[in-house]
Amino acid sequence: MRKIVFPVVLAAGVLGAGVLVAAGNVATAAESPDISVANAKAHLDQLQSIATSNGGNRATGRPGYKASADYVKAKLDAAGYTTTLQSFSTSAGTSYNVIADWPHGDPNHVVMAGSHLDSVSSGPGINDNGSGSSGVLETALAYAASGQTPKNRLRFGFWGAEELGLLGSKYYVNNLPSAERDKIELYLNFDMIASPNAGYFVYDDNPAGNGARDDLVAYFSTKNVQTEYIDVQGRSDHAAFRSLGIPTAGTFSGAEGRKTSAQAAKWGGTAGAAFDPCYHRSCDTADNLDLTSLDRQIDAIGHMIWTYAQKEYGGSEPPAGDNLLQNPGFESGAASWTGDVGVITSNTSRPAHTGAYKAWLQGNGRSSTENLGQSVTLPAGAAAAALSLWIRIDTAETTSSRVYDTVKVQIVDGASVTTLATYSNLDRSTSYVRKTLDVTQYKGKLVTVRFVGQEDSSLQTSFVIDDVALTAG
Ligand code: PHE
Ligand code: ZN
Ligand code: ZN
Ligand code: CA
Repeated sequence: MRKIVFPVVLAAGVLGAGVLVAAGNVATAAESPDISVANAKAHLDQLQSIATSNGGNRATGRPGYKASADYVKAKLDAAGYTTTLQSFSTSAGTSYNVIADWPHGDPNHVVMAGSHLDSVSSGPGINDNGSGSSGVLETALAYAASGQTPKNRLRFGFWGAEELGLLGSKYYVNNLPSAERDKIELYLNFDMIASPNAGYFVYDDNPAGNGARDDLVAYFSTKNVQTEYIDVQGRSDHAAFRSLGIPTAGTFSGAEGRKTSAQAAKWGGTAGAAFDPCYHRSCDTADNLDLTSLDRQIDAIGHMIWTYAQKEYGGSEPPAGDNLLQNPGFESGAASWTGDVGVITSNTSRPAHTGAYKAWLQGNGRSSTENLGQSVTLPAGAAAAALSLWIRIDTAETTSSRVYDTVKVQIVDGASVTTLATYSNLDRSTSYVRKTLDVTQYKGKLVTVRFVGQEDSSLQTSFVIDDVALTAG
């Protein structure tokens, strides 16, 4: 449904200024070690022997799956992880997720990596997905052995029943309380990373604001490995995280698709043949692996874990203190806000976070822009200041992994405009998600907090913002 908005002209000086993007902030991370390909191969040999002694597969509902989960869990327990075996039921029988937390680092900032541990019933699933599982497992074990102290909480997930429709990862996220979902800063997925005719694909996920995807590409390029982006939307376990608005990234060495001659020229291997000719077949065994691909891929997992373990997310808990904004939950309608104040609405076709009113930016389904702002002076003596808000995003842009519609959270400081965050159609989440943005650098200044929505020519995205707070302390 189209909304009707009554535009109000913003104060001069707020419009037309240049846009600066806030720089990311990564604390210095220790260089990641060489993750042992021999150890990863040893895990794969164990998974092969589990399949061999359990009817040739490790499929959901079959004994080879539970044995695989027990193997992974025992390794993680022995290394000092806090593990959970999470069971859930499927049409093929009970399945299990293994979740492992490294019990150090800030539990409010969780960096996660995962892989599915189940095979199809037709084979042992060594490349699909013993490869990702052993890579994630060996990285977790190497981190535990490294003596590093992570800034953030590291969590590893081994999913059951991916082959039945991503059931394990969906079960996990659906059973996480929303406060726990909000703590997950990044989810990295590894599904098929040692394909015998390997390619080097990086998921083409949420390009805006996803440094992780770019970090993977940059990492491979430092190793002189060229990568290609691939749209894998919905084909592996990152999808469940993505649908909550959690940034995701991942790599893939190819399945049933065939390698082109251009790809064979840059990656080697056989043009015209499948990346994995044994995909979902009984021949996906311990010799259905390119160990060079496995070696490079697990080092990439290590690089990402070591880097993101130290990433500075900051600002999760805004300073306690009075909210400096007026009418922050929009319950007084347009009062105290400037811009397209018609976006402030009690229209019930989108819920408020609290009360009846909220700011519903965009949702027009045509080329348009809307903005809303409020000026505020931050106290000069504050040690820290943060802007927090709740946002709900629904979109008709579901067919692509590209950004079409955005809302930017900006600070206008005189002639300079800084974009603190950009959310897009790719960040869709029909439950409200809380965002906290650091604004300490503006202490002592009169600034305008501004939200700027923009949509392309068709397919609506609604950015609904409520309960905005600016606190300093
Ligand atoms: N998830 C697919 C499977 O397990 C494999 C796959 C991974 C396909 C990533 C595309 C991208 O069969
Ligand atoms: Zn598969
Ligand atoms: Zn798979
Ligand atoms: Ca409200």
